[in-house]
Amino acid sequence: MSNETDETERRRSAEAEYRKKLSDLKDVKAYIHLAKMDKKILEDELAETEKELEHLRGCGYQVAHVIKPYDNGRFIVDAKVSRYIADCSSKLDKEKIKAETRVFLDNRTMTIMGILPPELDPEVQNMLVEAPGNITFDALGGLSDQIQQLRESIELPLLNPEIFRTVGVRPHKSVLLYGPPGNGKTFLARAIASNIGAKFMKVVASALLIGCHGEGARLIRAMFRYAREHQPCIIFIDEIDAIGGRRLAMGSSGDREVQRILVELLQQIDGFNEFDQVKVIMATDRRDTLDPTLLRPGRIDRQIEFPLPNKHARMQILHIHSAEIAKEGEIDYEAVVNLSEGFNGADLRNVCTEAGLSALRADRDCVINEDFMKVPTSLSGVPTRSCGIEENLASNGNCIAVNEI
Ligand SMILES: Nc1ncnc2c1ncn2[C@@H]1O[C@H](COP(=O)(O)OP(=O)(O)OP(=O)(O)O)[C@@H](O)[C@H]1O
Ligand SMILES: [Mg+2]
Repeated sequence: MSNETDETERRRSAEAEYRKKLSDLKDVKAYIHLAKMDKKILEDELAETEKELEHLRGCGYQVAHVIKPYDNGRFIVDAKVSRYIADCSSKLDKEKIKAETRVFLDNRTMTIMGILPPELDPEVQNMLVEAPGNITFDALGGLSDQIQQLRESIELPLLNPEIFRTVGVRPHKSVLLYGPPGNGKTFLARAIASNIGAKFMKVVASALLIGCHGEGARLIRAMFRYAREHQPCIIFIDEIDAIGGRRLAMGSSGDREVQRILVELLQQIDGFNEFDQVKVIMATDRRDTLDPTLLRPGRIDRQIEFPLPNKHARMQILHIHSAEIAKEGEIDYEAVVNLSEGFNGADLRNVCTEAGLSALRADRDCVINEDFMKVPTSLSGVPTRSCGIEENLASNGNCIAVNEI
């Protein structure tokens, strides 16, 4: 009996011992797991620190241009200081490296370590209009002919070049928008850009004259290079008269700089093909001063006039700009249109704004017919922009037309 009790006791203690060992094993396993996790964290930190040390010890990279492939996956590169025959990192796709590709080289081994995007002039970058704004053609009144002509010359060849090949005609390269100020030239160019998914580069020609000697011509080259590399692309040169004026035999150094820019522009326009997906739109309110070499077909293939709006167009523009205005009662648009003879699109937009301000002055939160009627009479006394530079010059005997200087 006592033997049996001893045996049971021994078993119980062995079982308790076993359970304790099991629990210890579990703890040890949990400890190992935690230690492994710590080790992983430390290893990551070590790798990161080593990488940083490597960066600190290294002497950077050099930017270079590939001149041409050499042999066995090696390339001749131009690194400004000197030319090298450079190996290429095994991680790079050699197929992507061609002549003119911008790459970076390891400073010690002169191995091509990566491909860089093409160099972009910061000033050309500024000309790129990321979003020309969400402008639809409906926001322009009385310009249906101009819209159709511009879409035919710019949009159709960009979106559907095949049609031209089928018919066998050469698409237009560039278009000139001209007419008195404030009639929607710039506005239409922005509308066309927002309508096509093409890159849109905008420059006001006078901005090319700022900067040192030769800078404008360099910018023109950079713009066209960018456009060729990022087709389809529209280049919009506003106020082209600033650089496109008639060339004179004699001139100051400033005139010669302007001429240099114009010659560069002509060369660049001649340099691309009608079937390239690059189109140029120029705008001016002084077509009469432009150099005939710029105006000839092949440089400017189509000239689209933006005249002062007639009665029908004025009515449309007025409706567009007054659409969002809170109005009360009947507005006699017919009378406003009759009173605004000689007004341009910008003036008509102003009429709507002034009517709104007149309502505010009278402590009203909506515009009534009277507000609209007051404005054209008050505005017509002021010489509006619609008078045009020519007319202003003509009315002022002291002024000499620019092309006569
Ligand atoms: N046909 C039009 N329909 C609606 N709005 C117009 C129209 N024409 C002009 N406008 C208004 O006038 C403003 C000025 O027009 P825009 O800047 O296009 O004139 P522009 O012809 O380029 O003048 P400039 O020769 O002085 O540069 C536009 O923002 C637009 O609000
Ligand atoms: Mg303009």
